[in-house]
Amino acid sequence: MTKHNVFFGEAQKMNKIADNSVDLIVTSPPYPMIEMWDEILFKQNNAIKEAFDKAQFEASFELMHQELDKVWQESFRVLKKGGLACINIGDATRTLNKNFRLFSNHARIIEGFINTGFQNLPNIIWRKQTNAPNKFMGSGMLPPGAYVTLEHEFILIFRKGEKRAFKTNNEKENRQNSSYFWEERNLWFSDLWNIKGTTQKIKNKKSRDRSAAYPFEIPYRLINMFSAQNDVVLDPFLGTGITTLAAIASKRNSIGYDIDKKFKDLIFSNITNQEPFINDYITNRLKNHVDFVSERKKIKGNDAFKYKNNHYNFEVITRQELEIKIPFVKKITTTNTEITADYHDAIGLTPEQKNQ
Ligand SMILES: C[S@@+](CC[C@H](N)C(=O)[O-])C[C@H]1O[C@@H](n2cnc3c(N)ncnc32)[C@H](O)[C@@H]1O
Repeated sequence: MTKHNVFFGEAQKMNKIADNSVDLIVTSPPYPMIEMWDEILFKQNNAIKEAFDKAQFEASFELMHQELDKVWQESFRVLKKGGLACINIGDATRTLNKNFRLFSNHARIIEGFINTGFQNLPNIIWRKQTNAPNKFMGSGMLPPGAYVTLEHEFILIFRKGEKRAFKTNNEKENRQNSSYFWEERNLWFSDLWNIKGTTQKIKNKKSRDRSAAYPFEIPYRLINMFSAQNDVVLDPFLGTGITTLAAIASKRNSIGYDIDKKFKDLIFSNITNQEPFINDYITNRLKNHVDFVSERKKIKGNDAFKYKNNHYNFEVITRQELEIKIPFVKKITTTNTEITADYHDAIGLTPEQKNQ
């Protein structure tokens, strides 16, 4: 069973979370200098709006980041030694007083994390190309006043201290069960992710547009790359609850914070009755592996694989994949204060096979 808590309050003070208790942070903060986040950021400190109104935009930008810095300091407090933080952020372009410019959120966040004591690890560029005809800005074909289009965001990755150690047998087993397929490693650990902003199949599309939710694939990959089953994952800027859903799907526990209570119903409705969505997603992951095996055998012959997974009747490329187990979700239970998820013990390639 996994447990999932959702708290409403400022991520600058996550009083409900003990020091050194979280294994992984996956989040996307409000983006400084993107207009849709002005209001919420202005509210954090009056000086932010005062500077903005006086056209001191760099100062306003800096003050917004000083609010985020407090969350990075709080993240450092709650993370265990060796825990990772993955921050999805986009830079902002904006025309202010008729002057078009870039505010480099990713650069300022890296600085904030390093000043907090984190180590920066190689980052990911999340490319979400659009084909919209109006995507180019500025003076069209006339130099030099046209601007490069921003079609990417970043996933910045940081670690608190040295690499995590897996000491007890239980920790080691969780880690082995949580390994991913060789071909997934090749895709996930590339520094360029091509994921459309809208691949998500869950409901409430309208609210998603208003809240700038990320697609399920983003937190799902990050959680599976950087934590083990039964770990605790935290999202300090939970929004619509996609990180919670990805944690449930990955058999991790989770904690979410958001300042805005109006997300409560949306978070709960995004999680309730999502067993079929999650189990389809896992089935797909397994089917993709089965397809990969048969494609590789076609090219390299039947001896292409040296290893067979200990739980499924399929081959794998490396020894590290022998214990992979991806449990299907049996039941998600939501009460007013808590969400829990139960999993099927038996392992199968489809939810129907799970009891065989
Ligand atoms: C970019 S959105 C997160 C979207 C989320 N990843 C999702 O998929 O729905 C940022 C969220 O941070 C919340 N927020 C802003 N300032 C906050 C603060 N100081 N503490 C906690 N939450 C905050 C906003 O209400 C918003 O839901």
